[in-house]
Amino acid sequence: MLLLLHVLMLSLLSSGSAKVVQNFESECGQFFANGKSPTRFNESQYKQICQTLNNDFYYATFYDTHNKIPVYSAYKFEGIMGCTRIESWYIEPQIDDPNKGQNMDFGRTVNIHMRGINQALNRDYDNSGYDRGHLAPVYLANSQSCADATFSLTNAAPQAKCFNRIFWWDEELSLGTHLKTACSSQPVYIVTGVVPDPNNSNRVNVPSHFWTAYCCLDQNNRCSDSGGVIGTNDNNSNIQKMSESDLEEELKNLYGKTFQLFQ
Ligand SMILES: *[C@@H]1O[C@H](CO)[C@@H](O)[C@H](O)[C@H]1NC(C)=O
Ligand SMILES: *[C@@H]1O[C@H](CO)[C@@H](O)[C@H](O)[C@H]1NC(C)=O
Ligand SMILES: *[C@@H]1O[C@H](CO)[C@@H](O)[C@H](O)[C@H]1NC(C)=O
Repeated sequence: MLLLLHVLMLSLLSSGSAKVVQNFESECGQFFANGKSPTRFNESQYKQICQTLNNDFYYATFYDTHNKIPVYSAYKFEGIMGCTRIESWYIEPQIDDPNKGQNMDFGRTVNIHMRGINQALNRDYDNSGYDRGHLAPVYLANSQSCADATFSLTNAAPQAKCFNRIFWWDEELSLGTHLKTACSSQPVYIVTGVVPDPNNSNRVNVPSHFWTAYCCLDQNNRCSDSGGVIGTNDNNSNIQKMSESDLEEELKNLYGKTFQLFQ
């Protein structure tokens, strides 16, 4: 009886504290248009994260523990909130140790020998010559606590400095401006992702491309306005704007498998 109670309590505790989840569509589907996520690859290296800070969900990330960068982060846009940057970065304790708590934090409770085995740490970026490039960005965050929650290294990938600070920043600005006017009364869903570079052998992969797609849903739950942009990860980034379906085609070629953005 005692044993049974113990097992029951353990299972209740663990199911209540899962932020790295089996299925982020059912656990935090509010970040996906029509509750459907972009394509999820099946290999066990990929983890689904409902990004949690102080017990609230802010966005969802599909994370690649092998390359130690996300595949994509999905978030909702609700206007330009003028959020500020906290400039210190969290990690995801459950990615290294499933027994740890559900909130992003500095990982100090994770055993030193396990910390970073499945994810990037600050030291991977320090002196690397690359920025910690946000996927879900501060600029498009829908609250200050959401902006704070974007500072997880599971939501970042090494990004060439000029690309991050000039070209990709311009894309975030112009997307925000477009959405504010074009989709002001509609739910807006955005996904930002990266493509790992198969030729890069760093502990944390330096991706070859960053990309973003958006969808403004109409009353029939269709994307009435959508689009995409993709840029090469170098200081003179070649950035191309395209339709959502052309971006899917481009990503299919780059990932080497079918990739669907919105459903
Ligand atoms: C993953 O596996 C499921 C079930 O076997 C399959 O339906 C789905 O198409 C697979 N996804 C990918 C991206 O291969
Ligand atoms: C980009 O430019 C910065 C500053 O000039 C330099 O430190 C960095 O190494 C360059 N990065 C790449 C990937 O070329
Ligand atoms: C990787 O290297 C191969 C062989 O040099 C090259 O053909 C390919 O374009 C490279 N891939 C990327 C993403 O740079």
